[in-house]
Amino acid sequence: MDELPRSYLRWVNQYRPGKPVDEIKRIYGLSDAVRLCSNENPWPLPEEVIQAILKASGEVQRYPDPEAYLLKRALSKHLGVSPAEVVVGGGTEGVLCTLFQALVEVGDRVVIPQPTYPVYALSVAAAGGECDFVPLLEDFSLPIDRIVSNCGERTKAVVICNPNNPTGNIVERQDLLNLAVRLEERKTLLVVDEAYAEYVSDPRYLCGVELFRQLSNVVILRTFSKIYGLAGLRIGYAIAPKPIAEAFGKVRRVFSVNAIGQAAAIAALGCQDHISSIRDRTILERDRMHRVLCNMGVRVHNTHANFLLISLTRANDVYEALLAKGVIVRNGEDLGLEGTIRVTVGLPEENDRFLKEFDRVLRRLGG
Ligand SMILES: Cc1ncc(COP(=O)(O)O)c(C=O)c1O
Repeated sequence: MDELPRSYLRWVNQYRPGKPVDEIKRIYGLSDAVRLCSNENPWPLPEEVIQAILKASGEVQRYPDPEAYLLKRALSKHLGVSPAEVVVGGGTEGVLCTLFQALVEVGDRVVIPQPTYPVYALSVAAAGGECDFVPLLEDFSLPIDRIVSNCGERTKAVVICNPNNPTGNIVERQDLLNLAVRLEERKTLLVVDEAYAEYVSDPRYLCGVELFRQLSNVVILRTFSKIYGLAGLRIGYAIAPKPIAEAFGKVRRVFSVNAIGQAAAIAALGCQDHISSIRDRTILERDRMHRVLCNMGVRVHNTHANFLLISLTRANDVYEALLAKGVIVRNGEDLGLEGTIRVTVGLPEENDRFLKEFDRVLRRLGG
């Protein structure tokens, strides 16, 4: 049976997500644990969204709208693009899988800077393509020239994550524009994953929607799993040039975006004041955590998202010791960045618990 799975799946490993709270409670015999490993927004949902979820949950005997008509209209209005340029899917991961199925033929290649979100390479592999990995520079910035020089005859796309997970940095406006223009000249798609865009306040950031309007080769991915607080409902979307969006429509799973998710996402888009307040609260907490961690003498990287990356000589031991105390962070090793842990900015009391346990572990084990 070994030879039956597709041969190119040999070069990828299964995605290792953050650990669920119940699993850690069970393994370590704990009464509670905090989950700071998946960059979710932990704040309560606004009442309008809860009401939309309740209403839609009373109607689940019916299939969802396969076209997600109302959600696409709401997104097109929110982003200022045509509904024909909006596609939706079961989370960003669902959008990525469909996108690459629509783009990639066997033997086609996609360039992906590393380290980044592992799902890009998995989606390319699932579609039968292959990846060319280009390491980020030491300060985690993009090696633009190397990315372009790695694009060959069969390169269909370059995928970048902005802000990048797990490093937290952004690509500066001029660099992003430069990359996009050079790729447009060679008719290569630039896919920009902006899962954390809503957290960015730096004026050097070029919002992908602006880039999309200027060039013909840009696809922007966004999600309702992060600042919108709907990770459990699995809604992601992209804005894409019409020919790409049309091809996407031909291969997508017809009912992959569930009815409760569609209703919740529409309601959440209407709560922009709430989103701004989540952004402000998260940034306040993030900056507080950054300060406290710096005072502990550890190396914390600058971030524009809702997580912090910490470099440690004994990262694996620190990660395990935190798990045993019911603090679930992410081992950077699983994200291609050995010697680091990544911690999500949670609720203030969750962050306090992390900081307290981290300090203790550090005193015991050393950084
Ligand atoms: C870079 C990046 N993109 C997308 C996602 C979200 O994926 P989804 O929309 O499938 O929940 C994540 C979640 O961790 C992420 O880090």
